[in-house]
Amino acid sequence: MKLLHIDSSVVGSHSVSRQVSAAIVGRLRQATPGLEVVYRDLASTPLSHLSGAHLAAAQGAAPEAALQQDLAAGRAVMDEFLAADIVVLGAPMYNFTIPSQLKAWIDRIVVAGKTFKYGAQGAEGLAGNKRVIIAVSRGGFYGAGSPAAAGEYVESYLRWVFGFIGVKNPKFISADGVQVGPEHREKAVAGALQAAISVAAA
Ligand SMILES: Cc1cc2nc3c(=O)[nH]c(=O)nc-3n(C[C@H](O)[C@H](O)[C@H](O)COP(=O)(O)O)c2cc1C
Repeated sequence: MKLLHIDSSVVGSHSVSRQVSAAIVGRLRQATPGLEVVYRDLASTPLSHLSGAHLAAAQGAAPEAALQQDLAAGRAVMDEFLAADIVVLGAPMYNFTIPSQLKAWIDRIVVAGKTFKYGAQGAEGLAGNKRVIIAVSRGGFYGAGSPAAAGEYVESYLRWVFGFIGVKNPKFISADGVQVGPEHREKAVAGALQAAISVAAA
């Protein structure tokens, strides 16, 4: 069984989402003998944003030499994703949504003909055979009915985008209110870590 572990926080060892995603992976490692883990750090090794040249290359245009390495990195990202049975993602909230580093990764894995296709019924996801677990960390509170609920574009976006490629039920483990104060932070992190070590075995 293969697990792909991705982090995207830019604050290294201070990161809450990194701490929680590592705890999820630790739990699954301990519960799954022989689990093969591939790790990708999108902050230390960022992918470039898509350009017109990327799209042209995808349509069959010969890429400039300078783009070839980047296209190979994109293929590696897609191959890792397609090969994974389980994906564990660290997703901090930056300005109400995911970090741009994580968006750049999503732009490499949401590809027609690979992870979705258009058919008679519209879009059809092709990556539904994966289990996806997402560690979210947010400075404030965005729960249903809260004043900021309409500003939540981490969980709502990721739920939609994974659903689009066929992953209908991603699991979210969230640490909320971590910037409200030290007490809130401690409680939120402890709760998320508890949820992390309780995820169902593979
Ligand atoms: C650049 C930046 C933007 C942020 N924007 C928001 C925000 O819009 N809403 C929020 O609730 N918290 C925001 N925060 C707080 C983070 O969501 C919080 O610190 C969280 O722990 C980030 O995850 P990380 O610790 O894994 O990096 C922001 C933090 C940073 C560094």
